This record gives sequence, structure tokens and C-alpha cells, in this order.
Amino acid sequence: MNFKNISLSTESLPQHVAIIMDGNGRWAKKRSLNRVRGHREGTKSVRDIVRACREIGIKVLTLYAFSTENWNRPAQEVSALMKLLKEFLTSELSEMMENGIRLNAIGQVERFPENVRQVLEGVIEQTRFNQGMLLNLALSYGGRHEIVTAVRRIASRVKAGELNVDAISESVVSEHLYTHGMPDPDLLIRTSGEMRVSNFLLWQIAYTELFITRTLWPDFRRKELFQILQAYQKRQRRFGLTGEQLNKS
Ligand code: IPE
Ligand code: IPE
Ligand code: MG
Repeated sequence: MNFKNISLSTESLPQHVAIIMDGNGRWAKKRSLNRVRGHREGTKSVRDIVRACREIGIKVLTLYAFSTENWNRPAQEVSALMKLLKEFLTSELSEMMENGIRLNAIGQVERFPENVRQVLEGVIEQTRFNQGMLLNLALSYGGRHEIVTAVRRIASRVKAGELNVDAISESVVSEHLYTHGMPDPDLLIRTSGEMRVSNFLLWQIAYTELFITRTLWPDFRRKELFQILQAYQKRQRRFGLTGEQLNKS
């Protein structure tokens, strides 16, 4: 794949890309605009990145759109985000159908207002047979909460006699997470320069390659994604082995 002097090999592309879309507020502040304008501009980046990932054959794209901690933001910002999400889902449905994108939500979606949930569940339902790419939106998502929920489910299965304590393995834990059945992210990108994971996919990123860019999310478009993918393809993922061991095989 070639794009403006960036060449990507199709073989070593990540299967699963996860993105912490950060920096909308700072983008707006730099322009003396309301933070909500930054979120609105950020939806244009979402559209471009979803299209680009679909075009190059990424299998799973997970976007961190709203964290459990984000509920504590000013009520006016929270409700503007809900409205934007609803508008986004409504406007993107036809393109998701055309491009074979299946939508899934990870997080405590039940905390969302009924009108948002209805639209979200409608799009999930309508796109459920699409096979081109899985788009996971992390909504009201918190990694620790996800793990606690998994532990509770596992404990109740043990209590009910369906599962032996000794049979609890890493794969059993994985199967009880929102991301069950999906490969772990190969690549995690965070925009706007913050060096932290902010409660995102804590279990799943154990061996994920991390990329942090200073670009603010509304300025992040496919060109930079492709540059990051190119850099990703040059990394050696060792999973605890030595470089020599990997070069031999
Ligand atoms: C990311 O941008 C979007 C959400 C968290 C919903 P921010 O709103 O966190 O932007 P900054 O970090 O304040 O610049
Ligand atoms: C992380 O960004 C959450 C999302 C991108 C949805 P935040 O802006 O909420 O993270 P912190 O507060 O800087 O860690
Ligand atoms: Mg932020």
C-alpha cells in the first residue's frame, strides 16, 4: 500500500488498532473556541481514521470515545458529547453498511441516556452481519471496571459449580471481558502527548506496541496513522524472547 511516499507492507499490519483520542479540548482552546467545538472537529478525524483503517484492511479498530471518569466533566460538556455521539452514529450508518463495518460498544452503555442507547443499539443491530471491519467504540469504558465485572462473573460461575477454580486461566479471564473473541490490540496510539493509559484496555494491552504522538486528535488524520503503521512495521515484537531467538525462526 502506498500513500504519499509512505509504503506499508500488507503482511505485518496490525490486526487490532486501539486509539486514545485525546486533545479535543486543547485544540479548541488554542483557537479560543468552546471545548465542544473541539469534540465536533474530532468527529472528522474519527471518520477519516475509520475509513483509512477499513481501506487498508485492519480487522478491529477500538476507539476510546468516553471513559467512566469522563462522567465527572461539566454536565454541559457531557450532554454535548452525548448529542455528538448520536449525530455521528446516525450520519455514519449508511457508510458503515456500504463498507461492511460492524459496530460494537464496549463499556457501561447502560449509563447512557435512553435516546442515545436506542440509536447505538439500532446501529449495532443493523450492522451485525457486516464482515469488513469491527469498529469498537469504548463508551463509558473503564479498564478496572471491566476487570471487576469479569471477576464477578467468573466468581458466580464458580459458585454455581460450572467452573473449577483451577480452571481459571488467562484465556478464561479474556473470555469474560468486553473484548471476548477479539485479538488483543497490536498497536495502541494516544494523541496529544500524554504519557498514560487512562484506564484503557488494561488487561488487553499487556504486549501491545505503544505510540504517543503530540498531535491533537482533531489534527490527526490518515497520513500520520500511516506513518505510525510504518514505524510499527519496523519494530521487533519480542514477547519476552531475545532478538536472536526471533531472528533464527
Ligand atoms: C478527548 O479530548 C475526548 C474525550 C475525553 C471525550 P479531551 O476533551 O480530553 O481534550 P483535552 O485533553 O482536554 O485537550
Ligand atoms: C482519555 O482521555 C479518555 C478518552 C480519550 C475518551 P482523558 O482526557 O479523559 O484522559 P486524562 O484525564 O487526561 O487521563
Ligand atoms: Mg484529555
